Amino acid sequence: MVLLELEEVTKRYGQLVVIDRVSLRVDEGELVGMVGPNGAGKTTLFGVISGDVRPEEGRVLLDGATLNRLGPAARCRMGIGRTYQVPRPFGGMTVFENVLMASQQGARLRGWESRHAAAIVLGRTGLQSLANRPAETLGLLGRKRLEVARALATRPRLLLLDEVAGGLTDLEVAELMGVVRSIRSEGVAIVWIEHVVRALIDTVDRLVCLASGRLVADGAPVAVLSDPAVREVYLGTDVAEDAVVHR
Ligand SMILES: Nc1ncnc2c1ncn2[C@@H]1O[C@H](COP(=O)(O)OP(=O)(O)OP(=O)(O)O)[C@@H](O)[C@H]1O
Ligand SMILES: [Mg+2]
Repeated sequence: MVLLELEEVTKRYGQLVVIDRVSLRVDEGELVGMVGPNGAGKTTLFGVISGDVRPEEGRVLLDGATLNRLGPAARCRMGIGRTYQVPRPFGGMTVFENVLMASQQGARLRGWESRHAAAIVLGRTGLQSLANRPAETLGLLGRKRLEVARALATRPRLLLLDEVAGGLTDLEVAELMGVVRSIRSEGVAIVWIEHVVRALIDTVDRLVCLASGRLVADGAPVAVLSDPAVREVYLGTDVAEDAVVHR
């Protein structure tokens, strides 16, 4: 069953075409990796899906219903959760309070139910011991985990992860992948943007590559990484080589 569908979406900033007629489908429970060089439009595409960015053309559909007129809060309540590349916690609030707020605003839980749900999310994302720390005192791994926790607390059916592994050590990346896999095992569909291609390749069902706002490849991870169009995009870098060699 198709969960999310983008139909010929275009986003411009002035003369600059940032998303160029992108069409994409994500099935229920599917885990799709997204790669592409800096400035390719990946984060902007997440904004188009989450409602933070309004496209000039094209449609965004969830369960076949168009979302174009809905803002981020409404889309979140419909089941679209996202993390931000630059973590956006409420710094003065504790880790628990941040997750609690997501559970109340996004999943619309109240009282004991929302506190219970928030506690479960903290456990699943490895944040239990940091629950009472002000969010602003967390290190990078903690902030990345909190981004995932806040998105998860909204009870998404579609989770958009924007470079949650960026800047982490191999061990930390492996831990975070465990969290992502467990979320996925519950039937949540995930689109995961990551520059760490090795983190994606063994975990995702499908890989898509965005370059200069265009979707240049969409398919099985190994096939996408050996696609000439993708190799062209990464020419002069070792990203694609690196991922293939590591298999
Ligand atoms: N609000 C904005 N106003 C003008 N230009 C923007 C805006 N947001 C993004 N852009 C431009 O759109 C292009 C795509 O940016 P985007 O952040 O989506 O890329 P990205 O693929 O996520 O890159 P990265 O891998 O570095 O995170 C860039 O050229 C960026 O400068
Ligand atoms: Mg980005």
